[in-house]
Amino acid sequence: MIIGSETPAPEGPTADRQWWKSAVVYQIYPRSFADSNGDGIGDLGGITSKVDYLAELGVDVVWLSPVYPSPQDDAGYDISEYQDVEPVFGSLADFDALLGAVHGRGMKLVMDLVVNHTSDEHPWFVESRSSADSPKRDWYWWRPARAGMRGGDPGAEPTNWGSFFSGPVWQYDEATGEYYLHLFSRKQPDLNWENPEVRQAVYAMMRWWLDRGVDGFRMDVINMISKDTGLPDGHVMHGGLWGDGSPHYIGGPRLHEYLQEMHREVFAGRQGQFLTVGEMPGCTLEEARLFTDPARGEVDMVFQFEHVQLDQGPTKWDVHPLRLVDLKASLGRWQAGLADVGWNSLYWNNHDQPRAVSRFGDDGEYRVRSAKLLGTLLHLHRGTPYVYQGEELGMTNAPFAAIGDFRDIESINHYADAIRAGQASNVVLAALRVMGRDNARTPVQWDGSAHAGFTTGEPWIPANPNYPEINAAAALADPDSVWHHYRALIDLRHREPVVAHGDFTMLLPEHEQIYAFIRRLGDVELLVMANVSGRAAVADQIPYAGHWENSQLLLTNAPAPEPSQPRLSLHPWEARIYRRRVAPGR
Ligand code: NOJ
Repeated sequence: MIIGSETPAPEGPTADRQWWKSAVVYQIYPRSFADSNGDGIGDLGGITSKVDYLAELGVDVVWLSPVYPSPQDDAGYDISEYQDVEPVFGSLADFDALLGAVHGRGMKLVMDLVVNHTSDEHPWFVESRSSADSPKRDWYWWRPARAGMRGGDPGAEPTNWGSFFSGPVWQYDEATGEYYLHLFSRKQPDLNWENPEVRQAVYAMMRWWLDRGVDGFRMDVINMISKDTGLPDGHVMHGGLWGDGSPHYIGGPRLHEYLQEMHREVFAGRQGQFLTVGEMPGCTLEEARLFTDPARGEVDMVFQFEHVQLDQGPTKWDVHPLRLVDLKASLGRWQAGLADVGWNSLYWNNHDQPRAVSRFGDDGEYRVRSAKLLGTLLHLHRGTPYVYQGEELGMTNAPFAAIGDFRDIESINHYADAIRAGQASNVVLAALRVMGRDNARTPVQWDGSAHAGFTTGEPWIPANPNYPEINAAAALADPDSVWHHYRALIDLRHREPVVAHGDFTMLLPEHEQIYAFIRRLGDVELLVMANVSGRAAVADQIPYAGHWENSQLLLTNAPAPEPSQPRLSLHPWEARIYRRRVAPGR
């Protein structure tokens, strides 16, 4: 329910270089967004047809997951040509049309930049693998077998590192008798950033897209581009098959140097307003301060992973319940750590994570209310919020019945590995159902017609069967929908400077149900309080609770409290934002 605000219209995204502080980004995963030609796969024409929908929601930036030519081994994160468009998604002309439509509505478009690796079908790799003397041999990581062993034999891999997609990170290549490194699938060989020609080729490609008019990049696993060239073995966990190589390729020795060079070569001196966000699994807060310090010229913000690993054990498949106090401790630490320098990006989910409402909320009885609560919390933190397609509808995880229902290489490989290792199929499937990436990749639910209105053909992955109830047409028609709440949150960020620029103080860090904090800018203060549970809760331990007696209720996800109701008592999954003026300097 939107109660309204008395605030004056502020300047909006300003001309200054940090315009993205008051912006909201919407992520599109093209395969699953909207299909314009009936082949069952989302495409650029489909996205262009929905640009008005995005403008109505009010987002400022669209981030496109990869649309480049690709064998689609990892759904487009395996690129075989950087300066073109995958025919399944359309053409460069379709891309230009989309870019024009996005710009025409005052929004910006950010591309996915996947340069830790290419596809093994990229001409650079085809050339590199053609002979040990190839001029591009050194563009990738080629190594002989472990000393004293024969290439291709078990255990002869140059290091013991395990890949993100199961098995070793090394693939033996018969033709030249050496192995190449691939942190992800064997069809995603890692580029060798030690080689200056590789770096210059990447920067030239980035400039080409900027010249075409795009407004920045989301940089895929960019903190893995610098590796320890000694390639030491990694620690093998008890019972594990492979070693953990991540200390030797995450945040490697030359990472800051590469990012600064990229910034100089690509962005420095260029007219315009850009956004760069580095995806950085395993990035620490201390490192994030360096990456995002504007004075260092690296990236504007990073995607960190701490809060999306709190419900996981040693691997992402060891799932356990999330403790609210852990979530507050983690996000609160990042808020404090990037308060004076750097900047946060804020997200609950993306194309690699389960659906937010299924993971952090209640996707049953309280689906709508808990989805709004999650949006409220996220958008009121200090940082740039990212909305993943369908999140604004409260889309949920999918009811995958059997392994045949999954499409993602990560899930399929993990299942095969786990079964081979003797795990019970129902146990493996249970983990895939909650953490599998396909949860986020089912088609966007546009309306109640066949396949959720995503395609007139057969979708590459079926729509979630709950689409007759959960869909954009229904949400737009219902003023109490998750969609309208997200729109109000985005609008609030644009209108109320304290949302983007205010400081952040966490309250009640030990409370097991309530997530509450204060934002403050000048003489304006906001109190955000949310009951992250299915039981009623009272937030009367909030410091100076009485000060909020006469404050203005800006936004809530539940019926407005009765005047007789104590101000600080909250229904299950209720979230409220209060606003008040305070004496400056207090
Ligand atoms: C991170 C991307 O978000 C994910 O989808 C992909 O599989 C890996 N990087 C490899 O590119």
